[in-house]
Amino acid sequence: MRLLVLGGTVFLSKAVAAEALARGHDVVAVSRGVSGTVPPGVRHVVADRDAGLPAALAAEPFDAVVDVARRPSHVRTAVAAVPHAHWVFVSTINVYADEATPGGRPGTLPLRAAITEDADGPEPATYGGAKVACEVIVRAGAAGSTVVRPGLVVGPGDPTGRFTYWVARLARAAEQPDTPVLAPGDPADLVQVIDVRDLAAWLVDLAEARTDGVLDAVAPPVPLGDLLAEVAAGCGAAPAWRWAPRGALEAAGVVPWSGERSLPLWLPRPELGGMAAHDVTASLAAGLRPRPVADTARDTLAWLRATPGATVTGLTAAEEAEVLRALDGRHEG
Ligand SMILES: NC(=O)c1ccc[n+]([C@@H]2O[C@H](COP(=O)([O-])OP(=O)(O)OC[C@H]3O[C@@H](n4cnc5c(N)ncnc54)[C@H](OP(=O)(O)O)[C@@H]3O)[C@@H](O)[C@H]2O)c1
Repeated sequence: MRLLVLGGTVFLSKAVAAEALARGHDVVAVSRGVSGTVPPGVRHVVADRDAGLPAALAAEPFDAVVDVARRPSHVRTAVAAVPHAHWVFVSTINVYADEATPGGRPGTLPLRAAITEDADGPEPATYGGAKVACEVIVRAGAAGSTVVRPGLVVGPGDPTGRFTYWVARLARAAEQPDTPVLAPGDPADLVQVIDVRDLAAWLVDLAEARTDGVLDAVAPPVPLGDLLAEVAAGCGAAPAWRWAPRGALEAAGVVPWSGERSLPLWLPRPELGGMAAHDVTASLAAGLRPRPVADTARDTLAWLRATPGATVTGLTAAEEAEVLRALDGRHEG
């Protein structure tokens, strides 16, 4: 297969390029070349999609395209340039307007309004709507397409540092078994992730098979307590957990999901209770094969240790200790 990867220099799109190459496909990747490098053996075409795809690429007979774009104009010009290929478009579960209902899947949850113009505003405000517009462009303009909506993508190379927070925290717990580990919400809260390598392999499968449709891309939901226990096992830890309910975390100034002073993977309920609780029966039937979370954690830890400056978001050790002290005081009071 001749595969065009739009991206190919970071995390997911780089893993797609590497996977396709390893399977013997002929892979061309397009990026500006500012975020990283393509895997060795992949042909790199340096271009800024703000100016559309280079005309020479439109003349090449690509069988499939994998695109991770966020800007509708990028997708519009690329689909117009390579309309005859099978498109695998990487979207997001942020296209869903309903973030509260568990058990949703494509077709059962309403979508956000499409934002058809490129927007440079704060990402969360425009990201999902822009992806809706990108999906529409691909579905309408390409000869065939698979729209894939990932939830939280995790594993070695993750530039966001969210799952990596737990890997780093539990690696520390392996060395300090007597210190409790602060955990958010209720251990029964559902959560789901997908290893970047499993997602990349599936995207290449979908391109090879020219699968038509719209599919979510996450492993089946599991209780957060089970997922964190698996991460701990992958990091060689068996800590004592200190689960803190939402009100206590908010009182201590802890932020959900990502960023400074956050506990990553924490999604306040009920308003975000559907985000990481999708029904992925159709995705598994279409060949998605998630590996055990403990394996992802072990490999992410190896990557983290080998990568100075790798991103880890969330509470610092001092902040966590401060929150634990506040929780104990609150408990006694
Ligand atoms: N991480 C998650 O948990 C998560 C969850 C749901 C969905 N997703 C989706 O998964 C995908 C992640 O993709 P990714 O890991 O490959 O990261 P990404 O940051 O989306 O990668 C963007 C790629 O496009 C290139 N690019 C950016 N601007 C460009 C431009 N103007 N012209 C040409 N190339 C450009 C970048 O290279 P240069 O900067 O060098 O040009 C890079 O190779 C995205 O579609 C994201 O929406 C992620």
